[in-house]
Amino acid sequence: MKGKLESFIDKEKLPAHIAIIMDGNGRWARNKNLDRISGHREGMKSVRAVVTAAKDLGIGYITLYAFSAQNWKRPKSEVDALMELLKHYLLKERDKLIENSTRLNAIGRLQELPKAVSDVLRETIEMTKHGRDMTLTLALSYGGREEIVDAVKKILAGDKVSPESVDQSTISQFLYTADMPEPDLLIRTSGEMRLSNFMLWQSAYAEIYVTRTLWPNFRRRHLVKAILNYQSRERRFGLTGEQVKKREAI
Ligand code: FPP
Repeated sequence: MKGKLESFIDKEKLPAHIAIIMDGNGRWARNKNLDRISGHREGMKSVRAVVTAAKDLGIGYITLYAFSAQNWKRPKSEVDALMELLKHYLLKERDKLIENSTRLNAIGRLQELPKAVSDVLRETIEMTKHGRDMTLTLALSYGGREEIVDAVKKILAGDKVSPESVDQSTISQFLYTADMPEPDLLIRTSGEMRLSNFMLWQSAYAEIYVTRTLWPNFRRRHLVKAILNYQSRERRFGLTGEQVKKREAI
């Protein structure tokens, strides 16, 4: 339902790309004397709500940090449950993604995912590929440093890039995110002030918004608040405030 707060969003100044570090599932569960998996299950409901809300609000790209390269070190029971949830989400949501003209994309060392998950992932990407309104990217077995390492390997393995020609756009083109805009707004839930190896290169100029809300409690209105907060900021990209104002006046 469209709330009053939502009407304050300036549609001309929407972030093109919102990236989210979904944190706090474990704490949410602990606060309720539940097991950690219940927290992830509730977190999946937030994923559904936020993806639908982002599409309704006109966001072009949303990227969710669903499983980090370091998360494999969690207890096997938790890793298995997260993989099951992911598969469940993809199977259950694919029709809705198609209906909402949302294209699914995935970044990370996807070759490390269990076959059952990567098969469903590949199928869902294929089924949703005509979605034009929004791209939903799941970061899976993803690490920002790993991504840069993989990019350097790809550059060195090919014979197309000479050392003299390397510049920032070369690196960008070899990242998993080559065909996406950089995130304008990076949201982290549960109050932690860390990047946790997420989109290190791409977030160079992202506006960071940290909320104490735990991910399982994060719903549409929280996304709206984050966007409004983003719209209240002045983005300078290294320039002075005066320079930015002059550019805007042109
Ligand atoms: C961090 O919370 C969250 C994760 C490691 C997993 C995120 C997964 C989901 C939201 C559910 C499935 C995802 C999709 C895309 C369907 P934490 O466990 O580190 O929380 P804590 O810091 O409170 O322990």
